[in-house]
Amino acid sequence: MTQPVHQSEIQQTILLTNAPGIIENLRRIAEAFAGRAVFSSSFSWEDQIITHIIFTEALDIEVFTLDTGRLFPETYSTWSRTLEKYGRPIHAYYPNALALQEFVTAKGPNSFYESVENRKQCCHLRKVEPLQRALNGKKIWITGIRAAHSPDRNDMRQVEWDPANKIIKYHPLLQWTTKEVRSFIDKNSIPYNPLHDKGFVSIGCAPCTRAVKPGEDFRAGRWWWEDATKKECGLHVHEELKLNP
Ligand code: ADX
Ligand code: SF4
Repeated sequence: MTQPVHQSEIQQTILLTNAPGIIENLRRIAEAFAGRAVFSSSFSWEDQIITHIIFTEALDIEVFTLDTGRLFPETYSTWSRTLEKYGRPIHAYYPNALALQEFVTAKGPNSFYESVENRKQCCHLRKVEPLQRALNGKKIWITGIRAAHSPDRNDMRQVEWDPANKIIKYHPLLQWTTKEVRSFIDKNSIPYNPLHDKGFVSIGCAPCTRAVKPGEDFRAGRWWWEDATKKECGLHVHEELKLNP
């Protein structure tokens, strides 16, 4: 049986990204997927590292963000400072106005606290659907995911297939520690979200993110009122990698 096309592309991508340094790996991706590689930024410090490399090395990788309309003021100011520092575009994607209007009119502005269903609907409208537009026609999607962010992410691979968006995903910082992230940020004077200095580890929308206490799981700061097993917003759907089936 012949293997699906995406599996050989994944194998090629794994080979492309086996250089010892992140800069070289991102450069290879930019060259191999010219015009078809995108990076999604939520302005977390992981994302700021990748943005810094893309912009300072002038890599052909489009940087985009999903503005849910519910981000922290600190996230918007980090976004502005990033534009000022690098002078390069960050493409903004927004929810479909009509669909959001109907949802908020029917359920109110904070219905995500009332049920998992409402929360998932809100995440779908504000993040997942705009993401589908951002990824349309692209071949590879780079993210700032780290394994340490969540127990779910422990068994992830740096290169994987996203069955929902039919795209290859690459997580160059997957195995980085918080210490390594912090030190790269400091060494390169990269602007970062000041909430990271106030106990916020993983930063999403303001009503759904809070600081975590020392020793608490990183993911404890997201959708804290929900069961731990439901804490994904639908942006990241994982499929086990099957090489040589
Ligand atoms: S989420 O699944 O909980 O929402 P998380 O905050 O861990 O995601 O971020 C993981 C990666 O998803 C980020 O490094 C970034 O690549 C992407 N991401 C998350 N939120 C956004 C956003 N609002 N805009 C663009 N990318 C995002
Ligand atoms: Fe809505 Fe909260 Fe999801 Fe943001 S994180 S899209 S506010 S439910």
